[in-house]
Formats: sequence, C-alpha cells, structure tokens
Amino acid sequence: MCGIIGYIGSKQATPLIMEGLRKLEYRGYDSAGIAIFDSDHIDVIKQKGKLSALKRRLEGLHLEGQIGIGHTRWATHGEPSEVNSHPHLGGQERIAVVHNGIIENYRSLTERLEAKGISLASQTDSEVIAQLAEYYYDGNIVSTSIKVAHRLEGSYALGMLSLDDPDVLVALKKDNPLIIGVSEAGNFIASDVPAILRHTNKVYYLDDKEVALLTRNGVRFFNFDGEVIEKCLETITWSMDSAEKGGYPHFMLKEIMEQPRVLEDTLQSTLSDSANKQVLENLDLSGYTKVVITACGSAYNAGVVARYVIESLCRLTVEVELASEFRYKDPLVDGKTLVILISQSGETADTIAALREARAKGAFTLAIVNVVGSTIAKEANTCLFTAAGPEIAVATTKAFSTQLVLLYALALRFAEARGALAPEQLAACKAEIATLPGKVASLLEQVDTLQKYAASCVGYKSIFFIGRNIDYAIALEGSLKLKEISYIHSEAYAAGELKHGTISLIEEDTLVVALVTNERLFEKTMSNVEQVISRGAKVLLIGNCPGVQPNEKLTFVSLPACFELFSPSLSVIILQLFSYYVAADKGLDIDKPRNLAKSVTVE
Ligand code: F6R
Repeated sequence: MCGIIGYIGSKQATPLIMEGLRKLEYRGYDSAGIAIFDSDHIDVIKQKGKLSALKRRLEGLHLEGQIGIGHTRWATHGEPSEVNSHPHLGGQERIAVVHNGIIENYRSLTERLEAKGISLASQTDSEVIAQLAEYYYDGNIVSTSIKVAHRLEGSYALGMLSLDDPDVLVALKKDNPLIIGVSEAGNFIASDVPAILRHTNKVYYLDDKEVALLTRNGVRFFNFDGEVIEKCLETITWSMDSAEKGGYPHFMLKEIMEQPRVLEDTLQSTLSDSANKQVLENLDLSGYTKVVITACGSAYNAGVVARYVIESLCRLTVEVELASEFRYKDPLVDGKTLVILISQSGETADTIAALREARAKGAFTLAIVNVVGSTIAKEANTCLFTAAGPEIAVATTKAFSTQLVLLYALALRFAEARGALAPEQLAACKAEIATLPGKVASLLEQVDTLQKYAASCVGYKSIFFIGRNIDYAIALEGSLKLKEISYIHSEAYAAGELKHGTISLIEEDTLVVALVTNERLFEKTMSNVEQVISRGAKVLLIGNCPGVQPNEKLTFVSLPACFELFSPSLSVIILQLFSYYVAADKGLDIDKPRNLAKSVTVE
C-alpha cells in the first residue's frame, strides 16, 4: 500500500527513483510522483494514473539532481489526483515528504496548523507531515523529523528532503516497512527489497521509532530520543533476476511457473540444515489445547486448508480467523493456544495487529512469512520462512503454495509430537509431500488446454466454486483468485450448502467449478454437480474423476494421484492458471488489478 523510494549518491537520482517505483508499483498505482533536490529548490513532479503517465510527464524535463524521493500511491484519504499525490511540500517549499501509512490524527493537526495560518492544499492525511516539518524546523532535519513524529498518531514510513539540509536524506518509520540499502554509488530508502535489488543486496531493516540519516557515503541511525543507535547490515539472498519478468507477459504467469522450484526450495528448507528445520525441531508442541490460525485474503485461505490437515493428522482443534476480525473480538487465546500467523509480506496491518493481540494474551505465536526482516517475522515468537522469493504480482500464487507446504510440514511435526500418526504413516506423508514439486511441474504442462478452456469462459458474469472439506478450502482460493484479477463475480461454497439457498442463483449457462479430489466424498459432490447441471449450469470438474465422461455440460481436468490432504497443492495450480487465462483473455492488467495493492499496510 503505497511504495516509497529515495536515493542519495553520485548518480542522477531521477532514473534510479523511476526504476525503483516501477518495482514498487504493485503497492499502489493510482498516482505517482518524485521530488528532486536541485541546489536552490526542490523540483516536484506528480501525476495521476499509473507510473507510465508520470514517465511520459518527465520526458523532456531533464530533472537534474543526485538526491531525490519518489512515491507510488494507493489512495486512502483524498481521491487519486495530482494535488493528492506525493511527494508533498510544505507551504514554503523547503521540505518534501513521501509517506506510506495513515495519520489518524491528521484532522486535529490540520486544525492546529490552520489556526496558525498554515493552510493545506490537498485532502490527504500525509501533507500535514510536510507542513508540520516546516513549522517545527529547528535547523536540523533529524531532530525536526523526530519532533514531527512525536505528534503523529497512526502508521508511517517516511522519506524526507530538506532544502536547508543539502546532502542528506532522512527516513523514519512506525508500523510500516522501510529498508535502507547501501552501495558504493549511493544509498537508498525503499518500502521493499525489489526496488533496490539491482543496485545492492546490503540492507538495514529500519525498526519502529528509528530514524535513518543517509548521506552520499554512509548511514547513521537514531532512536526517537535522538540518540545514536547501531544496526546490523544484512545481506539479501534474492537474485536480481527474481524481481524481473524474465520474458513472461506478466509476473503472475512467471510466478505460477516458478512453483515447482520454490516448492522444492521450501521443502528442502524443512529437511536440510536450515533455519526452518531448526525452528520445526525446536518447537515445543506439547501442552497446547488448540491452534488458532489468523491471516488475511489468500493467506487466510491457506489457513483454512491447514485446519483440515492439522485436525485430520493431529486430532487437535484448529480455529481459523480473519485477522481483521480476530484483532477486535477479544479472542479466546491464552498460554495454551498456539497462534499461527500467515503472511507473504509480513507487513499486513491486520495480521500484525492480530499477532500483537495474541501475544498480549499470552499465546505462543508462530509466523509463516516470505519476507525476512518484516514486522511479523520479527515480532512473532518464532518464524518459518517460505522460500518463494520476491512475489511481485498482486495476486499471490507461489507464496500461497509455499505456505501450504510449510503448513503440511508443521502438521506432520505436530502429529509426531502428539504421537497422532504411526511412524510408517508419518513416513508415507513425508514421501508424498516430496512428490509435490514434480506433480506441480506436470500440471504446468497443461497450460495450453487451460488457456483454451479459459478463453471460452470470459463471458460469464458469475462463476461458482464448490467442494467439500479440503476441496471447499481450496475453492475459496480459486474464487478469490478469479474475482481479483478477472473482475468476474465469484463465490465459493461448501458443495453441500448450495441447496440451502445459493442454488437459486444457478441458471442456464452458469459456470460451476467443482473440486473433487476427495475420494470418500466424490459421490456426494457429484450429486451436487448433477443438481447444478440439471438446472442448466456448465461444470468444470477438477480432481480425480473415475468413470466420468466429459460432455457438452461437463469438462474435466485430472490431477495426478495424491493424498487427499495434500491435493490443494495440485488443484490450486489449475485454479491459478484458469483465473490467469480468463483475465489475460479479457486483456486486463493482471499484475495490478484495479483497486488492489499488494502488502496491505492499512486497516
Ligand atoms: C490475494 C492476495 C491477498 C493477500 C492478503 C494477505 O491474491 O494476495 O489476499 O493474500 O492481502 O497478504 P499477506 O500474505 O502479505 O499478509
């Protein structure tokens, strides 16, 4: 949600900032802007629309300067417009600010500024920061920024430039991510690693209530009391290519295709001598009376899958809660509850709040996160890392799949600790999980069939996803994937629930995607399939379909044989490809769906 970038060094800042913004565009894309420090003034260029619009605007402008900040916006306060875009300047045009987050007390701060004769130009909550910074300016941008921070309520990652402090760039944060990258050619601030990976893999993770003072040659850190602090320089292991499309038309397709490799990497991390293996081995899983999984969106759906897996393998109660609900419901968790947080970014505001709530209530928290150094990774009692690499497409694919395999590994560890599975059952499960990357690779060879089928589905106004038990869990993900990138209305239902209301929506040529990996429940789900077909629906059947013959109303995609509990790792591949190709056929901007952004750092 909003991406910020800043650079100070020996190169021209504009191209570096524009390149960084391109990598951050997944965080917001309704407007963008940059500010460049030019000896006696700050040039600010802003533009409504995608980054390409700002790029066109900059053509022929030749902004000169080696210090700058940039922003790509996902509007929260104030419509997408030029005036509401960042960077924001104070009234005297001496300080420029980019902000990711929400300033909750911006109205009262604005009133106080207005009482002093300072009026604001935009409708944003962010401009107040630039105006306050000029108002409180004391000759030193670090102490000024701290003074401002003490007056802000809410969340913020900030980059600041001051005309009166040439040769420095300031960054500070609370509850929103910010990294500082260092390189010989200069130093960077950024919301996320891909923005700077081409220039450096050496970063500092800024913690809450810390300030970074960047010069051309170095970085110093302070706490909000203005005291100097030391921080550890970390090395990012992601390769430069991992943040590029690599010849694919969209990041989403590239990320779908990467799944065999990242699944293998994630599985290896639970077996080889790596951090995940240690974490799993060190987990004391005795004494828990229940497990609560909390997350948002697709990560929540991964939690729903895990509920079936853990309950089935470990015979232990698992509750799954949307993090946005969990945080405000005074949840029933305590020292005997294991709370699992799942998050690709590790920065989702609701999941962070759920984590803090669980910890405050004495629960042990285990996070499953993709981004090392993220808030959730740091604040959870312990953390397993998915080895998905950077995920750029807004719709998650490979991160979801790697979350599933870590959840399977965790379930097996739990089953082992509780003695819920015999050694040979445990070994069989492990062997089955090891086959998943290969099976996923074989499914990805069916791309052409899926592409053709999807092309025939672009006209549907509404598509339903049904399944029972674990198939229902993965139906939720199929439905979310489709609606977010194709804009086709979609719902997921437990197949047995259809007749309790939803079946009234089924009419001639409605499409129903039915998941049938569950042998035990195959006939039951097939009865539901018959019910919708007899009301005119067309059905795409995904799973193991013995004896089923395709016909005009029924198409099916077979999955390789697999233990039912791990079948979501296979069915989800078909669902991802289906959504992708429907959206591609509609010619939509798949990596940046309307109204959405990756890493939802606001409530
Ligand atoms: C859907 C999607 C979102 C995220 C959700 C949580 O494709 O990507 O629903 O799963 O916003 O994000 P993380 O996992 O970063 O906490």
